[in-house]
Amino acid sequence: MSTSPIRSKERFLVFGAPAIEDAEVQEVVATMRTGWLGTGPKVAQFEQDIAQYKNAPHAVAVNSCTAALHLSIVAAGLRQGDEVITTPMTFCATVNAIIHAGATPVLADIDPVTLNIDPVEVEKKLTAKTRAVLPVHFAGRPCDMDALGAIAKRHQLKIIEDCAHSIETQYHGRHVGTFGDFGCLSFYVTKNVVTGEGGMVLAGSEEDAARIKVLSLHGMSKDAWKRFSDEGYKHYSVVEAGFKYNMMDLQAAIGIHQLRRIEKYWLRRQQIWQQYNEAFADLPLGTPADPDPQTRHAYHLYTVMIDEAKAGISRDRFLSAMTAENIGVGVHYLSVPEHPYYQEKLSWRPEQFPHAMRVGRQTVSLPISAKLTDEDVADVVKAVRKIVRGK
Ligand SMILES: Cc1ncc(COP(=O)(O)O)c(C=O)c1O
Repeated sequence: MSTSPIRSKERFLVFGAPAIEDAEVQEVVATMRTGWLGTGPKVAQFEQDIAQYKNAPHAVAVNSCTAALHLSIVAAGLRQGDEVITTPMTFCATVNAIIHAGATPVLADIDPVTLNIDPVEVEKKLTAKTRAVLPVHFAGRPCDMDALGAIAKRHQLKIIEDCAHSIETQYHGRHVGTFGDFGCLSFYVTKNVVTGEGGMVLAGSEEDAARIKVLSLHGMSKDAWKRFSDEGYKHYSVVEAGFKYNMMDLQAAIGIHQLRRIEKYWLRRQQIWQQYNEAFADLPLGTPADPDPQTRHAYHLYTVMIDEAKAGISRDRFLSAMTAENIGVGVHYLSVPEHPYYQEKLSWRPEQFPHAMRVGRQTVSLPISAKLTDEDVADVVKAVRKIVRGK
């Protein structure tokens, strides 16, 4: 194997770096010049734009998807002792949000092909205490919403969708995040639309949207954000103990312009996805399953599976080798029960969810941001081929 890396250290390819263009920069500067940095008219516009894009009746901006999930679970009326079924193949935030809302997370294993929660496993985890199902559309691939919707209907469960990876995702012609009571989006720096930190709740009913809005700003009655406006001081009432989860205009200023380019960025990631599929077809590693018909995949993550027995290199050695080539990689995710907190508090063991455990121990996410140049993509391909062929 040659010793010189595919890229120089100075050109380290940062995993998940967002594409930021001039319009965002100008809008942030203009927002700063108005002096109104906090929650205001830009946030209201971004909410409207997202609701229109997702064809959702209501959208409420918050400062992260974690906050969106937390508020949705609270607004769904879940409380101590209520069980929420979710996937072990997700970011810890999904499970933590359930815990913070006082409910009990219950895991159902994934389908090993789609990497999404398996409705058959969900059925097995139903108890008299189950109140909600919280599917995560992993990597941007929609969950089986027909099957999950039928289970929810039969057992009168709330559906709260984690759409952190799946802004563009559609299932049978309908946007994910609009199937259940709540859909939660993320605009974190590595996501498909970014605001730095940021999130949004899509709500099916006006009542739920209003409650989320109140909960996101200390529990103050609506329109409290106007209290320092040029209309003069306004009294507000605190109607419940809320949270400090509101989005700032500074963040929305970025998101408004990102959203206008959503299709362009999606097409670019689709192109990179296809280039990787072709480039790795002859290598002894697993590549993502093709999208299902009648669905739209958001192409948020491109994951390869490194099975040491086939690839001749362990997953963790592969991660180090990519880093040595100066290419940033990620792991999405070690299955949730691998982490000590959940083992101690909830007695979860990775072996109880064998598909998620295997995937979590083999998976590697390669860069797929719309910011990548053709040369960046070629470098990723060269590095993967060099490592797997040269092991
Ligand atoms: C599946 C999933 N859920 C929730 C989150 C939390 O999103 P945020 O960072 O916006 O709180 C993430 C973020 O990485 C995620 O990937």
